[in-house]
Amino acid sequence: RVAALLKELEERCATPVGKLRQVADAMAVEMHAGLASEGGSKLKMLISYVNNLPTGEETGLFYALDLGGTNFRVLRVQLGGKERCVLKQEFEEVSIPPLLMVGGSDELFDFIASALAKFVASEGEDFHLPVGRQREIGFTFSFPVRQTSIASGTLIKWTKGFNIDETVGEDVVAELTRAIERQGLDMRVSALINDTVGTLAGGRYHDNDVVAAVILGTGTNAAYVERAHAIPKWHGLLPKSGEMVINMEWGNFRSSHLPLTDYDQALDNESLNPSEQIFEKLISGMYLGEILRRVLLRLAKEASLFGDSVPPKLEIPFMLRTPVMSAMHHDTTPDLKVVGAKLKDLLGIPNTSLKARKVVVQICDIVARRGARLAAAGVAGILKKVGRDTAVKGGESVPRTVVAMDGGLYEHYTIFRECLQATFEEMLGAEAAASVIIKLANDGSGIGAALLAASHSQYRELEQ
Ligand code: BG6
Ligand code: GLC
Repeated sequence: RVAALLKELEERCATPVGKLRQVADAMAVEMHAGLASEGGSKLKMLISYVNNLPTGEETGLFYALDLGGTNFRVLRVQLGGKERCVLKQEFEEVSIPPLLMVGGSDELFDFIASALAKFVASEGEDFHLPVGRQREIGFTFSFPVRQTSIASGTLIKWTKGFNIDETVGEDVVAELTRAIERQGLDMRVSALINDTVGTLAGGRYHDNDVVAAVILGTGTNAAYVERAHAIPKWHGLLPKSGEMVINMEWGNFRSSHLPLTDYDQALDNESLNPSEQIFEKLISGMYLGEILRRVLLRLAKEASLFGDSVPPKLEIPFMLRTPVMSAMHHDTTPDLKVVGAKLKDLLGIPNTSLKARKVVVQICDIVARRGARLAAAGVAGILKKVGRDTAVKGGESVPRTVVAMDGGLYEHYTIFRECLQATFEEMLGAEAAASVIIKLANDGSGIGAALLAASHSQYRELEQ
C-alpha cells in the first residue's frame, strides 16, 4: 500500500521537461495578458513606478523597513555615492508575533513603527544626516499592492498567512506614516516597493546585468525590467529610461499544465486564501513542509506508515515546517538519524523504522523537486518573454543576463537550489544557460529599498 501511494504521488508530481516548457510558455503568455489590461490575467503584472534602477552614485543616510518575510527587518545605510560605495550598514531583525498577522491593522503597523523608532534611536555617529533634513525610508512591503505612485499604493490582498481585513484596499504608506507619527518619529516614506523589486534594485547596484529578481522564501514572486512600450495598460508618461519594473506576483499564476495533486487541492481548500496563489502553494517555503505533512498523514492513516495509530501531531496543520523538511531531506547518515530525531522530537513519533524514514526522504524529494523544477520553468518563462532564453537572437548573441535570487528557501535548501539550477540548464540548453546566471543576492531587498529611497529622496535635486 505504501509503495502504491508513493508511486501515485510520484506520477502526479512528475515534471518532465516537456511539461515544464508548457508551464514556461503559459507563464510568458500570461505575462503578455497581464500587461495588456488590468484584470487581463491571473498574473497581475503590477506597475512598480520604478523606472530607474540604482546607478551606484546614490548618497546619504537612508533607512529601509522590510515586512513580509519570516522576519521583519529594519536597516540603515550610509551611502557614499560614486562606485557603489556603502560606507556603513546596520540592521535588526524582529519576528512578527503570529497574532499580529491576523489582528488589527493599527496593531501591526504600531508594532513595526515601534521597532523602527527603537532602531532609529540607536543611530550612532558613523551615520550622518545634514542638519534640518528629515530621515527617509524605503518600505519593502512584500504583498500585492496596486501602486498609485512610487510612494503610495493600496493593498490588493494579503498572502502568506497574513489576514487583516481592514488593511485591504488601504494605502499602506498612509498606514505606516500614521503609525510612525504615533511613535513621535519624524520620518518620510519615499519609496514603497515589493521585495522582488527591492532585490532587483539591490542586485542591479552590484551588477549591471541584473534584469530580473526572484524570491523563493515564505512566498514566491518575481520582478523584471520591461520595456515601457510593451505595457499597453500603462497610460502614464513614457519614462525617460523607456523602462519600467514590473512586479509579476507570479505566486498567483495558475495553468492547466501545473501538476496538482489531491494533497494540493486539500491544502488550497483549507488555506486562508482558497483558489489564490496556486503557484506559490506548489513552490514556496510556507507550503512545502505542509504538503509533506499531508502526504505523511495519508500514509499513516491508509498504510500504517508509523504503526497502528496515527500520530496526533501529524494532524495539526503547518506542524511540519519546511526547514525541518530540508533537514530530513539532507540527512546523509546511513540510518537516517536526523529523520528519526525530527520525527520523534517534532511529531512525537518514536522508534521509526529505517524503511519508514526512507519513505519520508523520498516524499521530501518528490515535493521539493517538483517545486524547484516549476520555479525554474517560471524563470525560463520570464526569459522567454524578454527574449533572453536563447544564446543567439536575430543573428546576435544575447548579452549576459543575471537573475538575482533571494529568500530562505533558495538560500538554505541546497537540494532545492541545485535542482532549480540543473532544471534551468536542462530547459535552456548549455549554450544559453551559460550566459544566464542565477545568483544569490542575499538581503538585496533591504539595501534595494534604501537605494530606491535615495533615488526618490525629496532632497535629490540638492544632491546633484
Ligand atoms: C529577504 C529579503 O532576504 O528575503 C526580503 O530581503 C524577503 O525582502 C525575504 O521578503 C524572503 O525571505 P523569507 O524566506 O523570510 O520569506
Ligand atoms: C507573496 C507576495 C509577494 C511577495 C512574495 C515573496 O507571493 O504576494 O508580494 O513578493 O510573497 O515574498
